[in-house]
Amino acid sequence: MSKVYTIIAEPDNATINKAVELLKAGESVALPTETVYGLAGNALEPSAIAKIFAVKNRPQDNPLIVHVSDVEMARGLGLEVHSQAEKLAEMFWPGPLTMVLKKVNDTIPPQISCGLDTVAVRVPADETFLKIIKKGSQNNSQLPLAAPSANASGSPSPTAAAHVYSDLNGKIPLIIDGGECKIGIESTVIAFDNTKIRILRPGAVTPEMLSEFAETLIDDAVYEKVAGTAQSPGVKHRHYSPKATVTAVIADSEQAFLDYSLNHAHGRNFAVASPDAQTLFAKFRQLDELGANQIFIRLPEPAGLGLALYNRIVRAAEFNVIDLRIIDLHGN
Ligand code: TXA
Ligand code: MG
Repeated sequence: MSKVYTIIAEPDNATINKAVELLKAGESVALPTETVYGLAGNALEPSAIAKIFAVKNRPQDNPLIVHVSDVEMARGLGLEVHSQAEKLAEMFWPGPLTMVLKKVNDTIPPQISCGLDTVAVRVPADETFLKIIKKGSQNNSQLPLAAPSANASGSPSPTAAAHVYSDLNGKIPLIIDGGECKIGIESTVIAFDNTKIRILRPGAVTPEMLSEFAETLIDDAVYEKVAGTAQSPGVKHRHYSPKATVTAVIADSEQAFLDYSLNHAHGRNFAVASPDAQTLFAKFRQLDELGANQIFIRLPEPAGLGLALYNRIVRAAEFNVIDLRIIDLHGN
């Protein structure tokens, strides 16, 4: 890939027009969303899709989310928005809910979802992002945007423009700086299992919120390492990983957690963290910069937004979870 100059710009009108122009020309542009920054590209253009994979160094079998401005746009792109999906869209779009829907035609090229017969779609709740889709979709043209998180594959998702710059400087022409992401953790990804909802990746739209609409199952891959092909292909890849070794700890008290961490730290370059959803990924990046070798994190209760945090922490820990409650039961 040839080196380009990367500009970071505020989301004024000139920058928004520039972004539309670049995206229409097949370039990748980093945009803010309410969850994490996205690396956007024209979802209808196979070469733009290929560019996203190349820029991120993303595994070829991990499908992308398509971002649209509303339900009608999703339908127009040949996605089956059934009545259940429509109800959820009314409630949660624009917002951090991604739905895996069946394709009824090939308007969206197969490269988006790595040949699967489904496409993951959401309407982001970010004004700049929506303006860009809408400006690009005038006069009979369409600009749905494929956008994975704008990090280099394997590093934590970016929640600030500076994080994107540190991963992708020299690889993309433009980063739009929308400040820090409000949610800080990627969208909830769901699939439909007959009439049931299956959570493939937990996020700010919680199981409790979804259960109001239909019976909601949580995929095993949310809690543990799964063998073979998971429903959401992304879950089998190493993700959200800082350079340090992460140990996830389940403890009844902060004291028990601290005692464990101090007893199991090798040397001095370790950190003990209890981050919240908005700051988790930023903490990982900060601790990498400080040269931490080991990070101990106390796991939250896996309920509500805590489930999303739990999932990202156990994955960063590569499922290395220490449950002090079990050890206590055995008198150790
Ligand atoms: O909040 C978000 O969703 C952010 C912002 C930028 O919108 N995007 C994001 O994209 O997190 P990415 O590529 O990092 O994660 C996409 C997730 C992966 O876990 C992938 O496996 C899953 O969505 N996915 C995409 N298409 C799918 C499909 N057809 N079936 C099942 N899972 C799919
Ligand atoms: Mg990602």
